[in-house]
Amino acid sequence: MKNYDLTKRILVTGGAGFIGSHLCERLLEQGHEIICLDNFYTGRRANIAHLISNPLFEVLRHDICFPLYVEVDEIYNLACPASPVHYQFDPVQTTKTSVHGAINMLGLAKRVKAKILQASTSEVYGDPAVHPQDESYWGNVNPIGLRSCYDEGKRCAETLFFDYHRQNNVKIKVARIFNTYGPRMHPNDGRVISNFTMQALKSEDITIYGDGTQTRSFCYVDDLVDGLIRLMQSPDDFTGPVNLGNPSEVSILELAEKIIELTNSKSQIVFAFLPEDDQRRRQPLLEMAKIQLDWKPSTELNEGLIRTIDYFRKIVKPYEQAVVV
Ligand SMILES: NC(=O)c1ccc[n+]([C@@H]2O[C@H](COP(=O)([O-])OP(=O)(O)OC[C@H]3O[C@@H](n4cnc5c(N)ncnc54)[C@H](O)[C@@H]3O)[C@@H](O)[C@H]2O)c1
Repeated sequence: MKNYDLTKRILVTGGAGFIGSHLCERLLEQGHEIICLDNFYTGRRANIAHLISNPLFEVLRHDICFPLYVEVDEIYNLACPASPVHYQFDPVQTTKTSVHGAINMLGLAKRVKAKILQASTSEVYGDPAVHPQDESYWGNVNPIGLRSCYDEGKRCAETLFFDYHRQNNVKIKVARIFNTYGPRMHPNDGRVISNFTMQALKSEDITIYGDGTQTRSFCYVDDLVDGLIRLMQSPDDFTGPVNLGNPSEVSILELAEKIIELTNSKSQIVFAFLPEDDQRRRQPLLEMAKIQLDWKPSTELNEGLIRTIDYFRKIVKPYEQAVVV
């Protein structure tokens, strides 16, 4: 039975996106009422189609660059294109989404006294001079490069969160999310796991930039969602920023070989020149999340990849025939 004392009305911006749709699903399972806000820039109706019939779920087509007034208890602010191909398509809009979006959602949180969580990113560390990165590192970010619309937009959003907290007592939470993967990633987002999986399922060559010895660490989406909810539920005096990710490193070559094996693909690996801004390593330090949230990721890469490949397998055929909506 629904417990009205414990259930809340929660706004999830970017709720039709990859991470947002999993978050909406989990919060609904917990009995909360969800307002899923999205302008469908990179989000897809297919991601939330299975939630539409739930009477506790409501979809709101809205762009967070414009003000909004809804009565809610909590706000998860995830709206923002997240992969380079998407955020570089319209960089001015990307910065606006991070900055104007943060101002609008913080203004809403202030007016209705809601707690608000920001989906920040490991990209605030830029091209890090320290490895692995903990939250005290201030980062090494180029303010005028092609990635700056995303990195600096997210950094400015963090600033706004902390100023609304200091100036207006808004209850804030800031999560610095590292590479996350899983079902409902956009098949064309250019990220390494979706790229390799789509190439493997279509038996196309798998392109590795550089020699493949560069490493990455990947967090399965269910683990990340668990971390975000724990952060929202943490005591009010814990604001973060806190890293959420998976510290297990895998080389890009190993990852390609794993995906070829798991998809039983005939794809061949081919090597191309490494782009200039490619990072050698990106790995989170998770001490703060362990201590403050009692959280650490638990899904092994193989297990997460199998679930992700299953998802892509289902969409690869229709995707080849038509545009995914
Ligand atoms: N996926 C990752 O590895 C990762 C890593 C670090 C941070 N993040 C952050 O997590 C959040 C979600 O990322 P994702 O991977 O699910 O990306 P996504 O692109 O799948 O989701 C973003 C969602 O926001 C929506 N959106 C974009 N601009 C909007 C606007 N102006 N108004 C309303 N909606 C808008 C999109 O339509 C989409 O549904 C983002 O803020 C991203 O920066 C993700």
